[in-house]
Order: sequence, then C-alpha cells, then structure tokens
Amino acid sequence: MVEQEVETGPARELLARHAQAFSVVFGAGAAPRTFFSPGRVNLMGAHLDYSGGPVMPAAIDRGTFFAARLRSDRRVLCASSTERDAFELDLDGPAFQRRGRWVDYPAGVIELLRSLAPDAPGLELYFGGNLPVGAGLSSSASICVGTALVIDRLWHLSLTPMQRVEAALRAEREFVGVHCGIMDPYAVGLARPHRILWLDCKDRTSAHLPLDSSRVAVGVADTGVRRELAQGAFNERVAQAAAAFRELAPAVPGATCLRDIPVEVLEARRRDLDPTLARRAEHVVREVARTFRARDALARGDLPSFGAAMFEAHASLRDLYDVSCAELDVLVDAAAESGRVFGSRLTGAGFGGCVVMLIDEPHAAEVVELVGRRFAARFGRRPSVEIFGTDRGPREITL
Ligand code: GLA
Repeated sequence: MVEQEVETGPARELLARHAQAFSVVFGAGAAPRTFFSPGRVNLMGAHLDYSGGPVMPAAIDRGTFFAARLRSDRRVLCASSTERDAFELDLDGPAFQRRGRWVDYPAGVIELLRSLAPDAPGLELYFGGNLPVGAGLSSSASICVGTALVIDRLWHLSLTPMQRVEAALRAEREFVGVHCGIMDPYAVGLARPHRILWLDCKDRTSAHLPLDSSRVAVGVADTGVRRELAQGAFNERVAQAAAAFRELAPAVPGATCLRDIPVEVLEARRRDLDPTLARRAEHVVREVARTFRARDALARGDLPSFGAAMFEAHASLRDLYDVSCAELDVLVDAAAESGRVFGSRLTGAGFGGCVVMLIDEPHAAEVVELVGRRFAARFGRRPSVEIFGTDRGPREITL
C-alpha cells in the first residue's frame, strides 16, 4: 500500500486549509503533519460481517482529515473542525475513560497504542473532514484507522496496516462499545483505488476486485435521516442473528456462524423458529449466496447481474431485515426506474443514512438530477446526491 505521496486535487487543498485551521486552534509553531483516511460504501454483503459472511466494500474519496504535531509534555489535546467540544488526555494519568463524545473514537485508539510507547510525547490533534457522520459511510472506522496511522507515524511504532486495522476495530468494540463487525476498518485500512475489497469475514481472507471506472460511477444519495436509536437497533440485529444461529446450529455439524447454515436447513426448520428470527436468518443465508453470485458477475464484467443482486439485497434488507425506511426506498426505486443504474441499495447499517448506486457512467449527471428530483417531489426537500471516486486508503499527505 502506498501511504505517502505528493497529492494533487481537492483532498490536498482541503487538507491545506485544515492545517491552517490547526494553527489557529493550537497556535504558531512547527507545521503539523497532515493525513487523510477514507470512508467506505458497501456494495454487497449487507449485514453479513457479524454472521461470518462475505462483504464487498469500496473506499471512497471522502473521509477524515488529520493535522497533528508533537508536544514537549505528555498531554494529548484533541479538537475538531466539525465538533464544538475539545478534549485533553493525560498520558501520565490512568487509563482513559469513555466520555460518550466524539473523542471516544480517537481516544480508544490512543489508549490501545500508548502501551507500545510508554515514554511517547504528547500530541496536538485536529480532526475534520468531508464525510457525513452517522450516514452509513463509516465515519467511525475512518477516524479510528486514520488515528492509528497518525499515532503510528508520530510515535514511530512501525505498525503494519493490519495492526492498525485491528487497533481501530478493538477501539470501537472495547472502548466505544459498539458491537460492530469487521467490515468497516478492513474496508478503510486495506483500500485500493478502483478496487472493491472482497472480504470473507469468516476466515478474514481478502482480495481486490477491479471496478472499471470508465463504465461505472459510484453515486451516493443521502436521505438526511439520522435515527437516534440506530445504535440500539443495530445491536439488536447482531443479537438476533446470533440467536437464529443458536437455534439452527445443531442441524449443521461443524457450523460456526450463521453463514454456514444452508438455505434448505433454514426452510426445514422454519416452523420451529420465532418468525422474526426466521426472517433475519433468511436475509443472511440468501445474501451470502447472492454475494458469491455478485462476485462471479463482477469477475465476468457483467455489471447488470451484479447490479440486480444489489437491488435484491435492498429488497431483502427492507422486507426481511427491517433496516430500511421510506426515504431510502424512494431513492432506490428512483435509481431503478431511471434505467441508467445497474444496482442500488442502502449502504451501512440502514435506519436512514445513504444509498449507494452503481451508475452507467455516461449517464451519471442525469441520474444525480433525477434521483434528487424524485426524492424532493415526495419529501419536499432536496437530498445530497453526489458521485464519489474510489480511494487508496489512509495516508500521510505532504503539503
Ligand atoms: C455497520 C457496521 C458494519 C456492518 C454494517 C452492515 O456499518 O459497522 O460492521 O455490520 O453496518 O452491513
């Protein structure tokens, strides 16, 4: 993975402004080092990671900006261009505690890594970015994996990309307390440009599959809907998938996760299962098969079949997993009716947030306009609909 190179384009300009803002917040002195860490969309394998299934995410060219410099004492000062509150952590003090605020994400990573560098100096860290928070584009993995890289570089830890991914995952699970699967930090940390990551969440094997950007544009439409209770509803889905597996596992010797349950076993046992658990399990076992089919379609360059699997995934998320909402459905329906979109579905956990669209490239502008218009006609406001590029993953950008 290339992690440091001279970069041109919008990310560089935005980072330069971010570095200027850093100096306003923390005062004159050495110029900060600057970093970028992307967000991600998930194209196939919806709600499969915590059931051991395969997923197909791609990193996007929107993400988190970091400006950072060392201090001469042992304090870590954290501020953000998008959040009002700033925080101070003391490297000589006891273990950091969760505060229920944005700083928990970077603080969780720093807490994990500080034992690797017991005498490391303090830091000034300034966060920002152009990724909507809570929209299903993985702003949390973006900030966690990015923080791991910043700390790695400033404290000279010589971590591997996998160690940074693991630190991010543990920070989110153990420090922040989200029962998230492994997809997001892997999608961010192992990203490559013009590639979709194929990640098998059972054995953690991965591959990079080409996405032909001359044929297809990645569009993202944001409903603007943010559900306060989404975290609880997500954790409930994780618990339901685990409960369905406990019911079905005795019928399949050697099964270790819901992904191992064949659809025939589910059908045979369906009547003994709680109906909600049966619908959750049906989504998972059919989405596993669909995701393998989608991978084969992509390998053949068959974008219509890949896209059809995305539309089916959305219907299943809506009808069996109950994680969609009217705003997401209107966007996916508009994409389907445009006739210019190979496939579309909600991305991330759902309950609001964004849909992702694989658009027939020459028609990208037309689709952006049409989808926005259809949404506005129904809900009386214009959603943000944008075309995103793919991204090469977290890196230092020298200004
Ligand atoms: C969230 C979680 C991921 C994954 C998706 C659903 O983004 O963080 O681990 O479960 O939802 O596919």
